[in-house]
Amino acid sequence: MNSTKRPPLSTSQARQTLGLLYGLVRPYRGRIALALTALLLGSSINLVFPEVIRRALRPDSFTLLIDHLSLFFGLLAALFVVQGGAFFVRSLLFGLLGQQVYADVRQRLFTSIVTKEIGFFDRHRSGELAARLNSDAALVQDLVSVKLSVILRYGVQVVLGTVLMAWMSWRMTFAIVASVLCMVLVSGIFVRNLRAASRRFQTALASLAAFAGESFGGAKVLRALGAEEQAVSVFGAHSAEVLEAGQGRVRSSAAFSSGASLLLNLLMLGVVWYGVSLVLRETLPLSDLAAFALYGSIVAVSFAFLVSSYAEVVQSLGGLDRVFELCGSETRSNELVSEIIDEKGPEISCSEVTFAYPSRPEAMVLDRLSLTVAGGTVAGIMGPSGAGKSSIIQLILKFYDLQSGSIVINRHHLEDISNRELRAKVAWVPQDPLLFGVSIIENLTLGCERLEPHLIEARIKEWGFLDFVFDLPEGLSTILGEHGAQISGGQRQRIAIARALLREPRLLLLDEATSGLDSELEDKVLSVLRKVLPRSTVIIVSHRLSSLRGADTVFLINEGRVVEQGTHEELKSAGGLYQHYTVRQAIG
Ligand SMILES: Nc1ncnc2c1ncn2[C@@H]1O[C@H](COP(=O)(O)OP(=O)(O)OP(=O)(O)O)[C@@H](O)[C@H]1O
Ligand SMILES: [Mg+2]
Repeated sequence: MNSTKRPPLSTSQARQTLGLLYGLVRPYRGRIALALTALLLGSSINLVFPEVIRRALRPDSFTLLIDHLSLFFGLLAALFVVQGGAFFVRSLLFGLLGQQVYADVRQRLFTSIVTKEIGFFDRHRSGELAARLNSDAALVQDLVSVKLSVILRYGVQVVLGTVLMAWMSWRMTFAIVASVLCMVLVSGIFVRNLRAASRRFQTALASLAAFAGESFGGAKVLRALGAEEQAVSVFGAHSAEVLEAGQGRVRSSAAFSSGASLLLNLLMLGVVWYGVSLVLRETLPLSDLAAFALYGSIVAVSFAFLVSSYAEVVQSLGGLDRVFELCGSETRSNELVSEIIDEKGPEISCSEVTFAYPSRPEAMVLDRLSLTVAGGTVAGIMGPSGAGKSSIIQLILKFYDLQSGSIVINRHHLEDISNRELRAKVAWVPQDPLLFGVSIIENLTLGCERLEPHLIEARIKEWGFLDFVFDLPEGLSTILGEHGAQISGGQRQRIAIARALLREPRLLLLDEATSGLDSELEDKVLSVLRKVLPRSTVIIVSHRLSSLRGADTVFLINEGRVVEQGTHEELKSAGGLYQHYTVRQAIG
């Protein structure tokens, strides 16, 4: 993954990330204001105590204090109660806000990923994306509910504490502020490294999760290949990468936090030293020095927390960058011409189509390919493996953009047709149809929820190629395992075909959709198909001539070009590649 090699992020990117983060919390301004009020109240009360001590230590107020001792402690107790209430409100509101923002980010991330252009999924592994949904989005929750509250609380204490210190001795305060500013400048270097280390860690973690997901998903294949040990060692390598990135992050973070805290302590020591010399010269009362030292320690501790949470915030921002990176570059929305495909099956015309996959732009897959399928007819596409058959189907589905040439549906360029119309009127059954690990009925109604279950049941009974479903103890409610693992390959294909037929598409694209069926079942499926969709255009990709015998036109594709075309009868004696196939498959 190329993101591992990225240089550390620039300040403008950091600002952009913070801007996006602000966008996430903006809708909850009211609750944030309330939480901030509670925070301000709690932190201010903390700062009252040194002032109370300073006044109590003065000789004139000491006797007054002795006289009203119970009142004094009662007031202090009341202050603690108010502070406790403020603490509760603050932590509750920030915690709830964190969960809310987490849910928003999850939803946004998922929406953004599922609507990405298809080429995106050629470049990213699904496990890696799922990991990002979990771990990267969780960073936002932590950032909002914990870090934000910590930073604000200590930030308030640092600012107010400094103001109060300056009120007592501006000289000493000036010395402190100047040294702290120098420290902040130096720490900028650490912060950059830390943020880059964080990104590396999150990326390595996502890659590890992707590999683990693939290994568990493909457990049967691994077992059959006897490749478990190999998988374990590859996992070990991934894990070592995560370990290294994680340790790198810890090293940067430890150096940063401890360096900052050491400097801070030395600074405090210097200030107290200076303060003592002022007291000895009698320019500062002892009670002021005591209060100053107390404020100093509150400010120092708050600042130390601030610095170390800043380090953690920077780590979270590293992960957040990745979240926003995924949320960005969304699919171009296209609300273009609709109602191009009417009741009758559309005519499809590809002319001089040249195409290479975005993930492998140098490998030409289709080379000036031209073919026309008349509306309402059945076309067959045949050709050697890797010839480009599935690619044509995916181009008609607008999964990818062409390099040159055009695809025209009912005299309209494909790019002018809205995705919504295309998806509503076209059905596709891919080579390896994917079923989801939900019930059969839920798999059948994906994308057409309007159908009533009893209607579906009646229809598939009438079609007669899904009878096996009714022999299952739970019938249509049977839950299929992950990717439909609990039924056979041919049964999966039949469910996928039924899913497509239920949508009553105007254009049906079958890509090796019947390869797992015996010829009797295949004939049945193909005849049902024609009966259910008498006016639709159907494109059948197949290696088997038996699937294409009924086609109105067959296109033979080789190396990304149409090399022969005609009916089965015409081609079988044309002396070309098709005839060669007829002989090999012994079809008359
Ligand atoms: N997502 C992808 N990214 C990059 N290259 C791809 C991708 N899918 C397919 N290819 C390449 O494009 C070429 C054509 O593939 P395609 O799937 O269209 O072949 P096919 O004719 O359907 O073959 P088969 O009969 O084996 O299914 C092949 O060389 C293949 O390696
Ligand atoms: Mg294919």
